[in-house]
Amino acid sequence: MASDKGIDKPWAGRFTEATDAFVEAFTASVGFDKRLYRHDIMGSLAHARMLTHVGVLTADECQAIVSGLQEIERDIERGAFEWRVSLEDVHMNIEARLTERIGIAGKKLHTGRSRNDQIATDIRLYLRDEIDAIHAELARLQTALLDLAEREADTLMPGFTHLQVAQPITFGHHMMAWFEMLVRDAARLADCRKRVNIMPLGAAALAGTSYPIDRAYSAQLLGFDAPAENSLDAVSDRDFAIEFTAAAALLMTHLSRFSEELILWSSTQFSFVDLPDRFCTGSSIMPQKKNPDVPELVRGKTGRVTGNLIALLTLMKAQPLAYNKDNQEDKEPLFDTIDTVRGSLKVYADMMPALRVKRDNLAQAARSGFSTATDLADYLVRRGVAFRDAHEVVGKAVRYGVDAGKDLAEMTLDELRQFSPVIGQDVFDVLTLEGSVAARNHLGGTAPAQVRAAVQRARSRMRASNP
Ligand code: ARG
Repeated sequence: MASDKGIDKPWAGRFTEATDAFVEAFTASVGFDKRLYRHDIMGSLAHARMLTHVGVLTADECQAIVSGLQEIERDIERGAFEWRVSLEDVHMNIEARLTERIGIAGKKLHTGRSRNDQIATDIRLYLRDEIDAIHAELARLQTALLDLAEREADTLMPGFTHLQVAQPITFGHHMMAWFEMLVRDAARLADCRKRVNIMPLGAAALAGTSYPIDRAYSAQLLGFDAPAENSLDAVSDRDFAIEFTAAAALLMTHLSRFSEELILWSSTQFSFVDLPDRFCTGSSIMPQKKNPDVPELVRGKTGRVTGNLIALLTLMKAQPLAYNKDNQEDKEPLFDTIDTVRGSLKVYADMMPALRVKRDNLAQAARSGFSTATDLADYLVRRGVAFRDAHEVVGKAVRYGVDAGKDLAEMTLDELRQFSPVIGQDVFDVLTLEGSVAARNHLGGTAPAQVRAAVQRARSRMRASNP
């Protein structure tokens, strides 16, 4: 595609000298946007078919373009496509190759189109597929959590506030808390997808095109819900990518919280769970070590996704309408976000079914730390003591227990009665961990029966949203 000045660029017409060698490398995006090739070709196929539909291209030209692009796609897939930095980006690389292959018809593909609406379309097509793939991984992890919650619905453990033992809960209930966070993440992604699935194509450079294009036709071919309403907005805004990254940052924040707990729980001090060996690594110096690398890395990777969100917000702010080259900088943060979220979800979905829950240690931990103190207070309230007074009484009993080295359930009836004469033999029913969790038997509560019911509801919600 050399011009008469020997400049190897499709836009060389108005230029008098070749691009500075460093500037060429500095401005090129092909190194990273080549990953959009499939969606770029998809968009070009629809554009060519639409141009044929409205009579701008002939059926023969369309046929040549379609088979030329399909061959290029096959070449790329088998690694037989030479990407050239001198051709800047994925779009011009593919178009130049098409023209080399099919001649003049290739030069007609870009009729009524600009790289500005082309790239905006490509990213949306690509992101739409990635959101669907992320949804599938998310559903796999959610299912793993539901299975775990069901299996451990009766497993007792201490619940924490301030990371201090608070009240007994069931392990299943804890897993369902994680599950609920992911439900909202999935809903955020599904909602974001609605705004991703709008078609910029037809906006051309910024103002639309003088050809009699049929945008509804291309939108239908590409599976978009609708063409974008305004051409200036369509080529310039990347809010859909920002929105996706925001949803991804929250999702990673949730995974980071899960990770923090798994890291604590798998320590010798807690010893609540055992992570499968194949998800851990050892130390090169300390032979005893088994490190929870996967949760640690996921926790660490959360930072880059949050960083990507800030990068994209900052990239967008203060850009005048319409397209600016700044927007080329949207890709790496977006791709990194996608890779990070997909990878983190995959490793979590693979790891969670193999988590070993150390039931005895969990129950032992729940028995220490006076986790049934609230139950004793509630017992006193049922016997006519005002809650504040009950709180005071139990506080004194706990103080005594700390000094005597005894949990509430380990005290004799006489010991307990020193603090309140209304305490009777039946107090021991509420001081057991089983009694404590079973008593919280309402929607959203930790009772095993409630956990099982919550799992059932969750399974039908999942069936409804992933038919
Ligand atoms: N590589 C560009 C991007 O990622 C494609 C659009 C370029 N448009 C232009 N007029 N230079 O944004």
